[in-house]
Amino acid sequence: MSNKNILVTGCAGFIGSNFIPYFLNKYSNYNIVNLDLLTYAGNLENLKEIEKNPRYKFIHGNICNRELLEFIFKEYNICGVIHFAAESHVDNSIINPGIFVQTNVQGTYTLVDVAKNYWMIKPFCYKDEYKEARFHHISTDEVYGSLNEHDLFTEETPYAPNSPYSASKASSDMIVRSYQKTFGLNTIITNCSNNYGPKQHDEKLIPTIIRNALSLKPIPIYGDGKNIRDWLYVMDHCRGIDLAYHNGSNGETYNIGGENERTNLQIVDIICAILDIQYPIKDNFPQNNCKKIASYKNLITFVEDRAGHDRRYAIDATKIKTKLGWMASENFETGIVKTVEWYLLKYRNDCL
Ligand SMILES: NC(=O)c1ccc[n+]([C@@H]2O[C@H](COP(=O)([O-])OP(=O)(O)OC[C@H]3O[C@@H](n4cnc5c(N)ncnc54)[C@H](O)[C@@H]3O)[C@@H](O)[C@H]2O)c1
Repeated sequence: MSNKNILVTGCAGFIGSNFIPYFLNKYSNYNIVNLDLLTYAGNLENLKEIEKNPRYKFIHGNICNRELLEFIFKEYNICGVIHFAAESHVDNSIINPGIFVQTNVQGTYTLVDVAKNYWMIKPFCYKDEYKEARFHHISTDEVYGSLNEHDLFTEETPYAPNSPYSASKASSDMIVRSYQKTFGLNTIITNCSNNYGPKQHDEKLIPTIIRNALSLKPIPIYGDGKNIRDWLYVMDHCRGIDLAYHNGSNGETYNIGGENERTNLQIVDIICAILDIQYPIKDNFPQNNCKKIASYKNLITFVEDRAGHDRRYAIDATKIKTKLGWMASENFETGIVKTVEWYLLKYRNDCL
């Protein structure tokens, strides 16, 4: 049997570049076409390990470009999509919301529409050779808005996005949903909590904490540092996507989350504690006035809060656990050690 060709978008970014090597390694019956615009967030260095794999093809381009998408579907006979590409940083969405609407809403619409046209003859009628073709949209728990102290986000929680980023992701989820309801397109949506792990862009919280610490620069923490996120190791997200893509039911949404709620202050504290052991200031900054800075924790600096900063996100992952047998393999304590070790290697030379 010949290999299936699937289009996976946005994989020069954080999660996609963890996903592709895992997926190629696990399945020998797939070829992957990675379409990525290489915005500031995309970096082909993230995919060095698989760039020569004969089952991998990179295409530089925009998910908003309909002609390009139509060409890719035809040229590579695409029979499945896993859609990661997005503008993903909330802070940027406050400064420049327009690009979030363009990429996340218009881009997702263009992609799902091209897939529908390529795979289907008319509503609820697939071409014979694409009967198994599926569109998997990667989304976020931020679409549900901010939580009180007790509740958890389930798949039934009403959408209440608060930032331009989460509003654009919520809109893209709705577009994908409508293609399932109106045209009978085979879709899956996964809404995941905050990911952490190797290859994340420097701008995000955990890389910023580690990079600034290793430069002995102030580590900025928004507001009172008590905003809560539910942290999931990126490979556990990749395994959840794999399960949902292969075994999820058509039209379903699955929440993925690690049940590892932490405040930003807890995050920065644990990272500083790991660095204090693995890269002690007194041994590594002999020139520094290390009597003043005894621990990386001394670098923590509170800064003005992000506008509209959601207070708490937390996922109820019961559905993906019970229906698809997903389980996180890392808890925050194990995953963060691996993560800090990876960034220590990356930043040590840059910072010193
Ligand atoms: N990072 C998280 O914690 C998290 C959590 C839940 C869901 N998600 C979702 O997962 C997906 C991937 O997130 P990430 O953290 O890897 O993002 P990222 O910002 O690291 O990577 C996004 C990638 O998309 C590419 N891209 C941007 N615009 C594009 C366009 N118009 N056409 C083609 N490619 C384009 C970028 O070049 C980049 O490689 C996003 O949809 C995001 O909303 C992320």
